[in-house]
Amino acid sequence: MMSKKLEAALNEQINFEFYSCNAYLAMAAYCASEDLDGFANFFTVQAQEENFHAMKFFHFVNATGNRVLIDKLPAPRNEFTSVVDVFHEAYKHEQEVTKRIYNLADIALQEREHATTSFLKWFIDEQIEEEATFSSIVKKLERIGEDGNALYMLDDELGKRTFVAEDASVLK
Ligand SMILES: [Fe+2]
Ligand SMILES: [Fe+2]
Repeated sequence: MMSKKLEAALNEQINFEFYSCNAYLAMAAYCASEDLDGFANFFTVQAQEENFHAMKFFHFVNATGNRVLIDKLPAPRNEFTSVVDVFHEAYKHEQEVTKRIYNLADIALQEREHATTSFLKWFIDEQIEEEATFSSIVKKLERIGEDGNALYMLDDELGKRTFVAEDASVLK
């Protein structure tokens, strides 16, 4: 049986993943309002990924005989000055997520909760990809600068992103 501390920390992460989902939907909405439909698609897919992460935690907490508690979420940031601003915020957000996952992993390790440690490994690996994705787009956007053609080429590329859940059963 895991401690109340670890159970609460996992619940906090479930809620943070749902918050992340909303934060990315707000970014998608901003991009759509700027007629950057590819960027909007990128963030809609990102929001689906975050919902998938939340559900992965949801099923783990249930499967280990613990109780999921859904909390009230703070409003995400809705206003941005540019897509560069959006991606800086998104990259910062993913760095915060990594910190939170590491903190969870520390608690699981301290409590010798090996099942949770094993479960969290997927998220530790996932965060490498998440941070790399955002950091690379930030760099591309900085290089693009005021070049409108290059921006629309990137918009086109990001419009092709689709969501594939590697374990769709957690969404049921
Ligand atoms: Fe996530
Ligand atoms: Fe993420």
